[in-house]
Amino acid sequence: MLKGRNLIDPMDFTLEELEEIFKLADQIISNPEDFTHICQGKLLATLFYEPSTRTRFSFEAAMIRLGGQVIGFSEPNSSSVSKGESVADTIRTVGCYADIVAMRHPKEGAPKVAAINSPIPVINAGDGGHQHPTQTLTDLLTIKSIKGRLSNLKIGLCGDLKFGRTVHSLIKAISRYQNNKFVLIAPKELKVPEYIIKELNKNNIEYKEVEKLEDVIGDLDILYMTRVQKERFFNEEDYIRLKDSYILDEAKMSIASEDMIVLHPLPRVNEIAYEVDDDPRACYFKQAKYGMYVRMALIAKLLGVR
Ligand code: NCD
Repeated sequence: MLKGRNLIDPMDFTLEELEEIFKLADQIISNPEDFTHICQGKLLATLFYEPSTRTRFSFEAAMIRLGGQVIGFSEPNSSSVSKGESVADTIRTVGCYADIVAMRHPKEGAPKVAAINSPIPVINAGDGGHQHPTQTLTDLLTIKSIKGRLSNLKIGLCGDLKFGRTVHSLIKAISRYQNNKFVLIAPKELKVPEYIIKELNKNNIEYKEVEKLEDVIGDLDILYMTRVQKERFFNEEDYIRLKDSYILDEAKMSIASEDMIVLHPLPRVNEIAYEVDDDPRACYFKQAKYGMYVRMALIAKLLGVR
């Protein structure tokens, strides 16, 4: 039963509950007209303390396409946050007005604090360099729809694996399906945090850490590219040195298999050359679309209207 629940961590839902969400998302994709009124009279609040394009717009578009309405801020300085209000007080107040909240925050754990203090369901829309569970729902639905499975996959994750929260959430979530293997492609300074490596070891999940994309791209079913997370660096010099560590172009794509797909949570900066966009294996804009459908399904489930 998902009604009334929060989504803070990708492990909050069981595999059966995830399946329920993907099934509803598929139904919405096939017959969107059947769902245009199911959230009539319901209100989503989007509290975004950090910049966003896809996540906020896809949440808002999702709610509006379900017949609901949206309030919120995308710039915390325009709200009482600038007067020093705590997350706990903001959520208690917003909980008096709205039926469900999506929150993005630069501090790890802030959406969890919100959930503890909230009378309505809270969805973590990204907390610092920690987790991004709705991007993970997006990634899983995309992979399932395009590759036809969530198991037996060799998944390359490339770029900023240290600060990239989408990577952390995806590794956690897709490790739960059978026989997936990871190739972690990053410069030494941007390797996956130790706590994730420990989890992989503990769960006997096969992985390897490499620095060169060219050496491994030919073996992958999925290549998940990421942006170097400028806003989480402590100094500009390191960012400049590392920002162009990987650039996926057609020359590298020519080594990859015919049915490898390229994903990216977006926004991209330099890490995928524009020429790759026309390659049929480039699926990152399709992925953005799946993100809206999966958020429609998630909202409907947490509100208990489906
Ligand atoms: C990601 C994020 O915010 O973590 N973007 C998104 O939500 N699609 C990835 C990023 O900003 O690099």
